[in-house]
Amino acid sequence: MQLMCQLKALKMLTLSLCSEKTRCSKALRCLFFSMLLLVIGTLIFYSSLPSWLSHWASFPWLNQFYYTSPQKSISEYFVEYPHEYRFILDEPNRCRKESPFLVLVIPVPPQDRRTRDIIRKTWGNQTTVLGHVVSHFFLLGLSRIGKGTGHPEEKVLNESQQHHDILQSDFLDSYKNLTIKTMVMFQWLSSRCPKASYAMKVDSDMFLNVHKLVGMLLKAPQRLYMTGMVARNALVIRDSNSKWFLPVSAFPESVYPPYSLGLGYVFSLDLTKKILEASSQVKAVYIEDVYVGLCMRHLGFTLTDPPDGGLFMTTVPFLKGNCYWTSVITTILPNSDELLDVWRTYKAEAQSSCCKPACA
Ligand SMILES: *[C@@H]1O[C@H](CO)[C@@H](O)[C@H](O)[C@H]1NC(C)=O
Ligand SMILES: *[C@@H]1O[C@H](CO)[C@@H](O)[C@H](O)[C@H]1NC(C)=O
Ligand SMILES: *[C@@H]1O[C@H](CO)[C@@H](O)[C@H](O)[C@H]1NC(C)=O
Repeated sequence: MQLMCQLKALKMLTLSLCSEKTRCSKALRCLFFSMLLLVIGTLIFYSSLPSWLSHWASFPWLNQFYYTSPQKSISEYFVEYPHEYRFILDEPNRCRKESPFLVLVIPVPPQDRRTRDIIRKTWGNQTTVLGHVVSHFFLLGLSRIGKGTGHPEEKVLNESQQHHDILQSDFLDSYKNLTIKTMVMFQWLSSRCPKASYAMKVDSDMFLNVHKLVGMLLKAPQRLYMTGMVARNALVIRDSNSKWFLPVSAFPESVYPPYSLGLGYVFSLDLTKKILEASSQVKAVYIEDVYVGLCMRHLGFTLTDPPDGGLFMTTVPFLKGNCYWTSVITTILPNSDELLDVWRTYKAEAQSSCCKPACA
């Protein structure tokens, strides 16, 4: 009713502005379109404002000022840790039997069998490198199906009996629970592999050059050491659409302490106990790599940059040399299927003049 009145008034106004019928309808149309444009413009402006402003995020004060968190409970940004989680699949004796120099732990969802098989055929199958033993383990939580039962699913149990490289803990495997996975990893390493020199948490979609990694570690500090792609002065993301959003109410600081990107970080085994100690004092935020950084800061430990800036790479560079894969330690791949091809290339490079002494 009110709308009709307004439209009528608008029509009267337009009519009073024009004398002839043709000119009048033109003016009406014109008015209608300008109103429409105004409405659309306003909508676009407001919906793009947050992302536009996030480009300005280098002004933390503006960042803090603009973003107010949606009305969600802040508990959503923290995980249930410390808490007693139990391993329903374990490999309690492998480290004692194998005495690895380096232990690779690969977080992967339970259903991701294919990815595990690809890793087993590629970098997971590098068990002796430069005379040192390297062991790998896949770390799983519970799938939604397996959650109620407290037992591993038959398929996973079967795979575990076949390969003896699966660890499964009894929390729900989800993106928001990755911090639990990481902490459970530290617990497992500290109790099952305390004599190993180093461990690496490495994502399943990564290329990993184990040879280069062991080579680096043989020259690395042996105590309180952590390296990888170290992020320094990274801004806390206040855009609620981001996968890594944290509201001011949950995390008031505007910059994170230094942390190693979760894709792949390496640490000396003595750190595992220390980080676990710190975790009882530091509230467990859901962004796992940031959380490890917060524990490191709490302990007063610094992160070490890799000896060479080109070792831990994020994406495959557009122009990569003929010896790219033998020159890096990690690179993120678009998916784990790509790893089979990349691995072939890596092996070929390793046979070529890329490596004067052997490098694979
Ligand atoms: C791992 O490498 C060995 C040779 O070193 C080979 O016999 C074995 O089949 C490989 N395993 C897989 C799963 O490819
Ligand atoms: C268990 O693994 C074997 C191969 O090792 C396979 O033949 C069998 O079908 C598997 N069973 C299940 C339930 O996946
Ligand atoms: C995290 O795991 C706990 C324990 O299994 C579960 O209760 C919770 O729902 C999980 N949270 C998410 C967000 O998946």
